[in-house]
Amino acid sequence: MAEQDLPATGREWHLAARPQGWPVPADFALVEAPVRQPGPGEITVRNAYLSVDPYMRGRMNDVKSYVPPYALGAPMDGGAVGHVVASRAEGFEVGDAVLHGLGWREYATLDAAHAVKVDPELAPLSAYLGVLGMPGLTAYAGLLEVASFQEGDSVFVSGAAGAVGSLVGQIARLKGAKRVVGSAGSAEKVATLVDDYGFDAAFNYKDGPVADLLAEVAPDGIDVYFDNVGGEHLEAAIGALHVHGRVAMCGAIAQYNDTSAPAAPRNLALAIGKRLRLQGMLVGDHGALRGRFLEEVGGWLRDGSLRYDETVVEGVENAAEAFIGLLRGANTGKMVVQV
Ligand SMILES: NC(=O)c1ccc[n+]([C@@H]2O[C@H](COP(=O)([O-])OP(=O)(O)OC[C@H]3O[C@@H](n4cnc5c(N)ncnc54)[C@H](OP(=O)(O)O)[C@@H]3O)[C@@H](O)[C@H]2O)c1
Repeated sequence: MAEQDLPATGREWHLAARPQGWPVPADFALVEAPVRQPGPGEITVRNAYLSVDPYMRGRMNDVKSYVPPYALGAPMDGGAVGHVVASRAEGFEVGDAVLHGLGWREYATLDAAHAVKVDPELAPLSAYLGVLGMPGLTAYAGLLEVASFQEGDSVFVSGAAGAVGSLVGQIARLKGAKRVVGSAGSAEKVATLVDDYGFDAAFNYKDGPVADLLAEVAPDGIDVYFDNVGGEHLEAAIGALHVHGRVAMCGAIAQYNDTSAPAAPRNLALAIGKRLRLQGMLVGDHGALRGRFLEEVGGWLRDGSLRYDETVVEGVENAAEAFIGLLRGANTGKMVVQV
């Protein structure tokens, strides 16, 4: 088979050093690397959008976890969407839009079995990294399956202006929550939660002790806490939860850059008397829900009852900065890099 028309090289991000605490630009290196021709069964994709996600911080540490750590001096990976520019795989044509796992680079050559075709007519490509992708399913499965949300529940979600949190609050509202409250890290984000996403109330967690701020917006307590943050937020939620309350432990971003053990929650024993259920989750366990998720969330997007935001950073050369910005709260909604 003839060589297909591809550039000789493309740019890709390598992990240059393991971050100590907060990542810094010097931990990352943008490298010019050969673009490999597809072999039998493979496709080459020109990436259009790259995902930067909080879980990637954990992969920068050299520790055993549910995903292997990034290797030093090798390309990082992660979610990406783009267009097929060369194909030796049946069923994949040049021009097809696909979602796959070789992000952090301009061009990706991969086994077509690891790519999923997506419909650019149905939603903008970047949506498959956010509201219709991994964070969307995390919100849907975490609230409905892990936290066993019921109509009439009062729900508190942290990280509420982010990719997952902004959807959790809206899904709870659409499913008949009694009250939906959230926390985020700026006055602008708090206004967005109430004005754009329909939260009943919200607070800026930087304004004081989280337990006090939560008591102001949820004076009658909560039934469900969707935890994206951990630490002081989790402690405040344990205090505010009703008997038989439920917590979806989705993330603990407040401690991802910590170099010592977190100080909170100090009140975990309250879970005994309140008969609380705190359950960890990984979105990968909830693939069976994908069909229902796409149908229901797709419907809400079409009829305008669900909103989503994206923070788009332009240029593959700015991907490391976008990732560091994500950890610092530079995003509202899903943080993506437009290649
Ligand atoms: N378990 C799973 O399968 C799964 C899947 C996807 C995501 N997650 C987790 O879900 C959480 C949200 O992920 P996402 O992709 O939607 O990210 P995101 O919320 O869009 O972005 C991260 C946000 O975290 C907030 N943040 C950073 N440091 C914080 C701190 N010390 N205290 C409180 N908030 C802080 C920032 O917003 P502010 O301006 O509000 O601080 C930032 O915008 C993360 O913990 C992630 O690890 C878990």
